[in-house]
Amino acid sequence: MLVAGNWKMNLGHADAVGLAAEIVRATADLSDEVGVAICPPAVWLDAVAERVRGSEVRLGAQNLHPADGGAFTGEVSAGMLTDLDVEYVIVGHSERRQMGETSAFVAEKVRAAQAAGLAPILCVGETLDERESGDAEAIVLAQLAASLDGVDSADLVVAYEPVWAIGTGRTATPEQAQAMHAAIRRALGERFEDGEDVEILYGGSVKPDNAAELFDQDDLDGALVGGASLDAESFAAIVAAAEASMC
Ligand code: PGA
Repeated sequence: MLVAGNWKMNLGHADAVGLAAEIVRATADLSDEVGVAICPPAVWLDAVAERVRGSEVRLGAQNLHPADGGAFTGEVSAGMLTDLDVEYVIVGHSERRQMGETSAFVAEKVRAAQAAGLAPILCVGETLDERESGDAEAIVLAQLAASLDGVDSADLVVAYEPVWAIGTGRTATPEQAQAMHAAIRRALGERFEDGEDVEILYGGSVKPDNAAELFDQDDLDGALVGGASLDAESFAAIVAAAEASMC
């Protein structure tokens, strides 16, 4: 199980470092079966890395550029992230896809992350129109296949995040999430020899009060948490729900 917090473009320096310290404290007695990662804004990665060093909390970034380096103003490479002890990187989040990031470019990023030894958290998910059209599964699987072009399964994590559930307070029902996760697992199993073992996280308005029923579903291996990850207590409660679901 993995619970990853996506802080998005939130928190100043002091608050970011303070939240990291609170999360380290709140997750100190964690069992080995649940991994915890936090993904602060890139400018705070260095300071947060310092704060989580020696703890169970892993560090993730929210994005990367596929090139090794060069004239890419404003971008951050995989090598820069590994220099800061970053282990995970979110790739293809819908908030970036909405800004024009294509699945082909997302696949390049996944490949660059893997080449550097980072674990990519590849996000896929349908919009509300796509869900209402009844074709959500086919759309998500097509997005997944295109985002995995040339990719292997090394350290791969997939996050199913229905766009209509992100930041809206409207979460997928456990049944809707389970059905999509099962379809994603089947597709990964067909694509990679060990594809059925790839961790599949759910994301979209995960909160302490809905986490347990989501984690009860067979094919949910954790969560990518936005809003509720900005509060140490809420985030720790979601982590605790993940732990409880392992018993
Ligand atoms: P949310 O965001 O939990 O605030 O809905 C999830 C995400 O975008 O990863």
